[in-house]
Amino acid sequence: MSAPLTAVSYVSRAVEEFDDARLADLLAQSRRSNHEHDLSGMLLHRRGRFFQVLEGPKDAVDELMTKIRRDSRHDEVRVLLTEQIEERRFNEWTMGYEPIGVTSTPVPEGFRDTFDDLESDDDDASIRAVRELTVWFRARTAAA
Ligand SMILES: Cc1cc2nc3c(=O)[nH]c(=O)nc-3n(C[C@H](O)[C@H](O)[C@H](O)COP(=O)(O)O)c2cc1C
Repeated sequence: MSAPLTAVSYVSRAVEEFDDARLADLLAQSRRSNHEHDLSGMLLHRRGRFFQVLEGPKDAVDELMTKIRRDSRHDEVRVLLTEQIEERRFNEWTMGYEPIGVTSTPVPEGFRDTFDDLESDDDDASIRAVRELTVWFRARTAAA
């Protein structure tokens, strides 16, 4: 039996402006470190907001989430969903990335300009939005 896997989905607000160079730095650093810690996931960035899914061994996910919560480059970190999962959904990505709005694939309903659905007070709506985005991201990157 392999160790249980955990997936955490959260949203946050960028404190400073993340231009392409900053995002590239963050991704390069994340990919290297995630690979070392057996972590995978995806990161979306749009209009100063982040949406990230992190998955892997529970201890590694918890440890990284502690660092991420303390990272002064963003604030208002709000975990939407913590799940025990049987299988990874982002196997091929130590940290997949999509700048929303640049893609030719339509973004899921309700997710065009903001993270409104994700941040809804209605937990069911948030969970549905996380799932929709996951499916969208995987379809988008599989087609690319
Ligand atoms: C939105 C956002 C997403 C991040 N995602 C990751 C990630 O997937 N992996 C990672 O190692 N660091 C990520 N970081 C960076 C961590 O917060 C932290 O800076 C990094 O783990 C280095 O920590 P260390 O200096 O203690 O090693 C992210 C930071 C931000 C702001």
